[in-house]
Amino acid sequence: MFAEAMARLPSLPPPTLLEEFQQRQDRLTSQFRNDDVFVLASPPHAVHSNDVHYPYRTSSDLMYLTGWTESESVFVIRNKDGRWVSSLFVQPKDTLKEIWEGRRPGVEGALALFAVDEAYGNDELESLLSGWLNDAQRVFVRGGVDQGIDLLVEDAVRRRDRARQHFGSGPVAVEDPSRLLAELRLRKSASEIEQMTYACKVASVAHELAMRHSREGVTEYQLQSVIEGFFSYAGTSGWSYPSIVGCGENATILHYKTNQDVCGMGEVILIDAGAEYHGYASDITRSWPISGRFTDAQREIYQLVLDSQLAAIDACRVGNLYTAPHDAARTVLAEGLIRLGVISQTLDEALDMETGELKSWYMHNTSHWIGLDVHDVGIYKPGGEPRVLEPGMCLTVEPGLYFGAWRPDVDCPERYANIGIRIEDDVLITSDGPVVMTEDCPKSIEDIERIVGQQLD
Ligand code: GLY
Ligand code: MN
Ligand code: MN
Repeated sequence: MFAEAMARLPSLPPPTLLEEFQQRQDRLTSQFRNDDVFVLASPPHAVHSNDVHYPYRTSSDLMYLTGWTESESVFVIRNKDGRWVSSLFVQPKDTLKEIWEGRRPGVEGALALFAVDEAYGNDELESLLSGWLNDAQRVFVRGGVDQGIDLLVEDAVRRRDRARQHFGSGPVAVEDPSRLLAELRLRKSASEIEQMTYACKVASVAHELAMRHSREGVTEYQLQSVIEGFFSYAGTSGWSYPSIVGCGENATILHYKTNQDVCGMGEVILIDAGAEYHGYASDITRSWPISGRFTDAQREIYQLVLDSQLAAIDACRVGNLYTAPHDAARTVLAEGLIRLGVISQTLDEALDMETGELKSWYMHNTSHWIGLDVHDVGIYKPGGEPRVLEPGMCLTVEPGLYFGAWRPDVDCPERYANIGIRIEDDVLITSDGPVVMTEDCPKSIEDIERIVGQQLD
């Protein structure tokens, strides 16, 4: 049923190559001292019900450094005789378990197919890791992910034996490596951009399919199923965050995800949904009238949000502060709301973060980094100073206006009652200007009115 839509997509990009994983590990260890040990554990399974788990997704850091996605695994880097050695502890092969749970790469698969120097069954973790920790001065580990590792590290630091007394050996410092990894992950490589672009293209087509499927009486969950069905059909692992599909007043709830209502003729629907491919997220929001025709009031708000989004995208340039898109979007929105008579303050007053009226209708940020995490890592203000945009950084641009007539905290203008509009694209910073990775997703009023309700099959 999705064949026609599928034909618009490029072929599926390959996963990151082994050499690139090795380069990432090298960039990390270049910041270490020889007596450092780095430990990264996979997160536990999350329970859905009784003995049923949610589909497993490992940590983005583990995917970034190794590409390894199996649970119950630990990645360690240590220095041995002046050389950095990476080790992966994994679930060993076990035919009986594999009959029930699925095939495992095991130690052999880890060594053959992943960028690691050594691989062990995870039953060897305790004895090997405690020895390596005892030889370390500093341990890079994020606490609270794996209790067993937390205890091993704690033991190694607390140990008061003859070796520590005589030779001063044993770790004296434990550091969270998140900051180092976040810095590496902030700038995307060519292969990461290719994989993200695929996730963006899939989500763009999925949104267009939902537009085409829209008609009076369709339900939010039916539109959700069109979008998420296409995510799977197109070879992604599914959503990168739970889809937000809200019609009418539900569109004015930023992270609405009940998705159970019926869509009425005069309503605008807001869908915020993205696909994940090889761990890489896309994050798109589009808003459109269920009828396929904007009312005058809906058109006024939609065009204003679109103008603010285009101004914000234009601010996504090398050398600008990461706050530039937000400033641009807020200015256009405030000017527009003054023009439409929604805000009665001056522009400066409207933009004031404490007393400005803009924040009644636009209460979130315009951008976040995007990558392996949809709200990707990357420090926004390193050392307290706003980050300057560089080539390879990827961020969303997602201004919106939300006129929730149900809200007791504001006097909602009647003309715009229950109109919620957000327009979100994913943008790559390049030295040639912003590249909108989600550009295939329709967003002009003309395109939306042409497409909504026009089914492909
Ligand atoms: N989908 C969540 C966000 O746009 O940040
Ligand atoms: Mn977003
Ligand atoms: Mn979003």
